[in-house]
Amino acid sequence: MPKILNFGSLNIDNVFKVDHFVQPGETMAAESLELLPGGKGLNQSVALSRAGAEIYHAGKVGHDGRWLVDLLEKANVHTELIDQTGSMTGVAMIQVNSSGQNCIIIHHGANAEITNDYIDSVLSHFHKGDMLLLQNEINAISRIISKTFELGMQIAWNPSPLDRTVFDCPFEKITYFILNEIEGFDLTGEKEPDKIAAALLKRCPNAKVVLTLGKGGVWYQDRDRVCTHGIYKVPVVDTTGAGDTFTGFFLAKILENCPVEEALRIASVASSIEVSRKGASISIPTLEEVVNSDLKMQ
Ligand code: RIB
Repeated sequence: MPKILNFGSLNIDNVFKVDHFVQPGETMAAESLELLPGGKGLNQSVALSRAGAEIYHAGKVGHDGRWLVDLLEKANVHTELIDQTGSMTGVAMIQVNSSGQNCIIIHHGANAEITNDYIDSVLSHFHKGDMLLLQNEINAISRIISKTFELGMQIAWNPSPLDRTVFDCPFEKITYFILNEIEGFDLTGEKEPDKIAAALLKRCPNAKVVLTLGKGGVWYQDRDRVCTHGIYKVPVVDTTGAGDTFTGFFLAKILENCPVEEALRIASVASSIEVSRKGASISIPTLEEVVNSDLKMQ
């Protein structure tokens, strides 16, 4: 089976449980504060591993981030390519309100210290047919995409959080775009899923577009077809990491050559279970839990 390299962020999530998101000028006490392992990169590696993929994580932590690497190791992720620098590990300040919604501020820290030499040394372990997964919480995304493309690897990109750097990236080298409808709108100026997908496919005709739509489920489109999947009924405790769980399970299934419809179903069940629990990476289910789940669709 092809290997998957996730070149991604590792963050220390400072999770504040609050009644409501803090307002301008307001100071308020949180109900609780927990320091949890996170970062879109780390969460997606955990999800891939729990879904059964052989996953290699590359990225950087600072002097205070060794525990994140240990955690990935315990989750059966290959961690030997992760580098430790002398600076601070990436940090996320996350408010989770009483409806389980979140708002997040990140500080990149060591995630923004990816160098050309490091990229070359990581990629020397991979070959044609392997897959690269990227988010947008590390620097040098454009270069990583171009260098990986030269190797003949497939590239899955979750351009989140979306900022202006994304517009300079070589879109035509991407195999899978995995993004939400807000990111889709920011990238294409379109609001409807079919129009967002069509705009991306016009630019990259061979790509596959996976659009997560929150309560609207998920929309998949490639040059030949469209598939959709709805959401499941669960109590929403914390939505942090739902998209990461979806991405990890979807790609793990695609790498096993699972039909797209089944990959969408498994990924949707996994992310529904994830939002019914507290935290990001700590609430990602195992494949066994997903397969044995009796969740009903909404
Ligand atoms: O997608 C959720 C993640 O976004 C959190 O774990 C946080 O670290 C931010 O990067």
